[in-house]
Amino acid sequence: MAVPKKKLYLRTFGCQMNVADSEQLAQVLASEYDLTQRPEEADLYLINTCAIRRKAEEKVKSLLGSLKFLKARRPQLIVGVGGCVAQQEGDRLLAAAPHLNLVFGTQAGRRLPDLVRRAAQGQRPVDIALRCGYEELPPRPWSPAPGQTLVTIMQGCDNFCTFCVVPYVRGREASREPAAIVRQVSDFLAAGGLEVTLLGQNVNSYGRGLAKPITFTGLLRRLSELPGLRRLRFATSHPRDLSDDLMVAYRQLPALCEHLHLPVQSGSNRILQAMNRGYSREEYLEKVARLRQACPGIAISTDLIVGFPGETEADFAQTLELMREAAFEQSFSFKYSPRPQTRAAGFPDQVPEEVKAARLSRLQARQDELTLAAHARLVGQVKEVLVEGLSKRSAKQLCGRLRTNQVVNFSGPRELVGRFTPVALTEAQPHSLKGTWALAHSPDLGGCPRQPQRRQHV
Ligand code: 5AD
Ligand code: SF4
Repeated sequence: MAVPKKKLYLRTFGCQMNVADSEQLAQVLASEYDLTQRPEEADLYLINTCAIRRKAEEKVKSLLGSLKFLKARRPQLIVGVGGCVAQQEGDRLLAAAPHLNLVFGTQAGRRLPDLVRRAAQGQRPVDIALRCGYEELPPRPWSPAPGQTLVTIMQGCDNFCTFCVVPYVRGREASREPAAIVRQVSDFLAAGGLEVTLLGQNVNSYGRGLAKPITFTGLLRRLSELPGLRRLRFATSHPRDLSDDLMVAYRQLPALCEHLHLPVQSGSNRILQAMNRGYSREEYLEKVARLRQACPGIAISTDLIVGFPGETEADFAQTLELMREAAFEQSFSFKYSPRPQTRAAGFPDQVPEEVKAARLSRLQARQDELTLAAHARLVGQVKEVLVEGLSKRSAKQLCGRLRTNQVVNFSGPRELVGRFTPVALTEAQPHSLKGTWALAHSPDLGGCPRQPQRRQHV
């Protein structure tokens, strides 16, 4: 008789990359552990952590602290911390938490089952080795939302922006073999998948260092040929490495969604230089203008940091001004947070917390205006929505995304989840749009996958 599998509870913090990594962790453990949603029945409790800002790190540490109560009730429970904080802190975590059984870094991958076995035998293993090259792990057929998947195409980062801990905790850039990516995407599409998001810290440098060189745009072209692919997205792009070739691809590849996440971080040249970003505000704005010309209707989102060391009111005013010029559809904004090992943590003129907080709220007010204006421009149009599930606000409504990544809420039958359907956009709201289902009277729901038409451009 088959031995019942043990139970794994997996808690993930941070970015989409961590979400994709967690799926792989579940996969490497799948022969021994089934995932559970209930921590109280877990035999193994793993936390996949984020170290990008101090707040993220603090959340992890407080969750870890609270697990001592669960462990007191279930002494056989194995508790493990993995990912970026594990990579950064190593055995310091063991010293701080006596109930912690194992620590594994961002590249422990295949070694995890063995580490867990050693932990079960009473050892407290720590594995934070970083290697060169991409390690292929068994992908897990899994979706963040029906019909969608995340596909890691590269690991690590070689940019060393002075504020960022990623190069230290995720190691050197390494690209995944295109054949493995193509296989994973084909399998997903063969199973009825519709939307693929490619992930890497700096996707524009994809392909460097591979035995058979290929560019990021080359990869996009190969994936675009796969039958059934309706939407193709990627994150994150570095503005310095955004190629002319990619701009052309937006014109040519029907599945490539009209959305680009292009983190600018600051609108001041002095600060961009201190951040080691490798572009000026003028270069950034010029790329945005060319993108908007090459792909009319494209939505551009960005990341912004306020209160980087030495940022004056005049520097900050330039960021606000750049936001208006770029007319970002969406932005993610953060107070600068000094991170271990990074150069900026040692810079003079650190900005006081209250100044950072005040700038952040001014910046977010500016973005709210821009987002609302972008939503208002869409009102009156009928757009294709990929339905993700029930709306967070009201269970009576469905929620989905446009190709340009905006969230749309509308009323329709639950059978639309995981399908495309046209929605008439009726009302702009600060964080989403309201719409009405444009096929309410059609018997076939209108959600059948069909090949997108090649876009017309002027
Ligand atoms: N402090 C604040 N924000 C940061 N980011 C990265 N490092 C820091 C830091 N030390 C932000 C950047 C990046 C996003 C993922 O997180 O804007 O693009
Ligand atoms: Fe961090 Fe810069 Fe690399 Fe992005 S490009 S992960 S901000 S070092």
